[in-house]
Amino acid sequence: MNNDSKSNQCSDEETEALGIVTTFFLLKKDPETGETILNKDTKVKATQEGFETLTQLHFKNKLKNWEELLPNLTQKNLLLLEDELYSLTDEGRKIGKEIRSKWHSKWYDNILIRCTKSEAYGLFCEKVFGKNLIQFNASDMEQLDTMINYLQLQPDNLVLDMGCGLGKVAEYIVEKTGAKVVGIDFSEETINWAKEHIQAKNENLEFQLQNFNRLDFPPSTFDAIISIDTFYFVEDFDVMLKKLKQILQPGGQMGIFFAQIISENDPVELLEAENTKMAKALTQNNLEYKAIDFTINAKNLWQRELAAAEELKEMFEKEGNLVLYEDRIADSKNVIRCIENNLQRRFFYHIKLVN
Ligand SMILES: C[S@@+](CC[C@H](N)C(=O)[O-])C[C@H]1O[C@@H](n2cnc3c(N)ncnc32)[C@H](O)[C@@H]1O
Repeated sequence: MNNDSKSNQCSDEETEALGIVTTFFLLKKDPETGETILNKDTKVKATQEGFETLTQLHFKNKLKNWEELLPNLTQKNLLLLEDELYSLTDEGRKIGKEIRSKWHSKWYDNILIRCTKSEAYGLFCEKVFGKNLIQFNASDMEQLDTMINYLQLQPDNLVLDMGCGLGKVAEYIVEKTGAKVVGIDFSEETINWAKEHIQAKNENLEFQLQNFNRLDFPPSTFDAIISIDTFYFVEDFDVMLKKLKQILQPGGQMGIFFAQIISENDPVELLEAENTKMAKALTQNNLEYKAIDFTINAKNLWQRELAAAEELKEMFEKEGNLVLYEDRIADSKNVIRCIENNLQRRFFYHIKLVN
């Protein structure tokens, strides 16, 4: 029995199925037919056959007995069956999202702990970022130092690093500025590692296991909040910014690295700094910002990443960390393609709360 599903008495297979179903419902819906759209060429209906097809395509056919699992989830009020089409109930969506979040954090547990043990990944970081902070982001030292310059942190400042990963970036900020940093992440093994290897040596650093989609801090706690490549995992930008405003002191500030990605059908104007999803949410929340375009820097970084991963492939393989090589190669190829085709731009947003 899985912990997340105990309250609903779901078996492990039902839990798995609900996570898979939620994944598909998070895909777009065709506004005309209401069908789940897998991509622009394939439309898949939310029927048992639809789920089977999608599971074959995306989950290596992980679950086979959908004819049993779907009625079970319906009986437990997690799915609704109407006109032969399934949909998630509110409770089903809530639990389904938790299941997916757990999968996601486990993925980071595995990848980030591997990074700490991998000599090849240390060399990779030096080559790609200019310094080994066991980063798992797209911010080289030039970008990171730019953020630090904008924030002008003082020794009496308290900073929140949302999605801090292993915490060495937070440690670098503390060393450079003297400010105190609280790092949060939903990856349990990562946070345990950061507590043991970083917090234990520096009283200006504290790490907490927290899902930033359910932030838990009292109002006016922080002078600054930073997010380095973590806003992609924010469920609702508007809700998040309202919450971040609340836990910031009056006059507080934020530093957010964010890449805007569009599809071929989207208007290219959406890549302008003031038209991105981030900019729109900031404006909606009356937050003033300055945006710095780091796209050229990012393209160079991803090219270094591709070259470094290839160069270190044998070393990754010997260590049993080929998964790190594969993951970095897939990401860098994809981002380089998007930037070259004018489908992606990278920005740093510096936001200041007006008193
Ligand atoms: C791309 S990595 C960036 C890590 C780190 N900021 C860095 O610069 O190296 C994204 C991080 O966000 C964390 N994360 C993703 N979703 C999260 C969530 N809902 N709550 C807390 N942390 C989350 C991941 O565990 C991971 O450490």
